[in-house]
Amino acid sequence: MTRVLVTGAAQGLGSEIARRMVALGYEVVVHGRDAARTDVALAAVPGAVAGVTGRLDSLASTRLLADDARGRGPYEVIVHNAALGGDQDRPVLTEDGLERIVQVNVIAPYLLSALLTVPRRMVFIGSDAALSGRPLVDLRPAEPWDGHRTYADSKLLLTMLAFELAARHTDRQINVVHPGWVRTRMGGPRAVLPLSDGADTPVWMATSDEPVARRGGQYVHKRRAEAAPAAAHDARLREALVDSLVAVTGEHLH
Ligand SMILES: NC(=O)c1ccc[n+]([C@@H]2O[C@H](COP(=O)([O-])OP(=O)(O)OC[C@H]3O[C@@H](n4cnc5c(N)ncnc54)[C@H](OP(=O)(O)O)[C@@H]3O)[C@@H](O)[C@H]2O)c1
Repeated sequence: MTRVLVTGAAQGLGSEIARRMVALGYEVVVHGRDAARTDVALAAVPGAVAGVTGRLDSLASTRLLADDARGRGPYEVIVHNAALGGDQDRPVLTEDGLERIVQVNVIAPYLLSALLTVPRRMVFIGSDAALSGRPLVDLRPAEPWDGHRTYADSKLLLTMLAFELAARHTDRQINVVHPGWVRTRMGGPRAVLPLSDGADTPVWMATSDEPVARRGGQYVHKRRAEAAPAAAHDARLREALVDSLVAVTGEHLH
């Protein structure tokens, strides 16, 4: 059986993606930020084989998560789903002195990617907000503060990271999926899509043998590759981003 890791599986899209992958016969490992949230994830995903724990707003805790996850691997698929939305009226610095949205949405997935073996497939849950994001490769939020713009910037940086991984591993299927506007805590009650629609393309990219799902380095929405933000195709900008991520984490990308 093939094993998959889904981050941020205690609610929202992560739970739904994990449930669907259980239904498809995968061995699913769910992630929560602390022991209580991992228990919530395990309860939300009946049939999950294990839970792993770690906060993404702490480099030390993300390292422990990587250790925990490595012990439950190896993985055929990793779904980087967990993220923090832009509802912050001021920058929040983490214990590492990093802005929290940027740390959770970009630095943590980088650190996990650097510390875990690169699987055959990776699905990074991105957002169309990335299309208006600014490639702030020094990982410092722009001033004046705007939480929603910082979220957009973080999703652009995440897309660039995924495209860099895809460029380094052309034999793997490493892609970004924009799920659409989905009714979750982050999407809010007025969002147009139910969870089932939002999870459809991430799960399809994680599991399908259709041509789009077998390629890498794509920005995918509704099971189709769409034009990615220009910065994702810019190898020099991606390199500058990775340089900053190495400086912050001390870890090199495979
Ligand atoms: N919903 C939409 O309309 C929409 C649109 C575009 C893209 N997306 C993307 O879809 C993905 C899933 O979002 P969602 O809508 O399902 O949001 P959500 O319901 O808010 O879920 C976010 C998940 O991330 C986890 N998380 C957040 N901060 C964390 C931290 N510091 N450490 C560990 N885990 C943390 C949360 O854990 P807790 O449950 O413990 O808080 C939760 O499981 C995200 O990447 C988001 O950017 C969503």
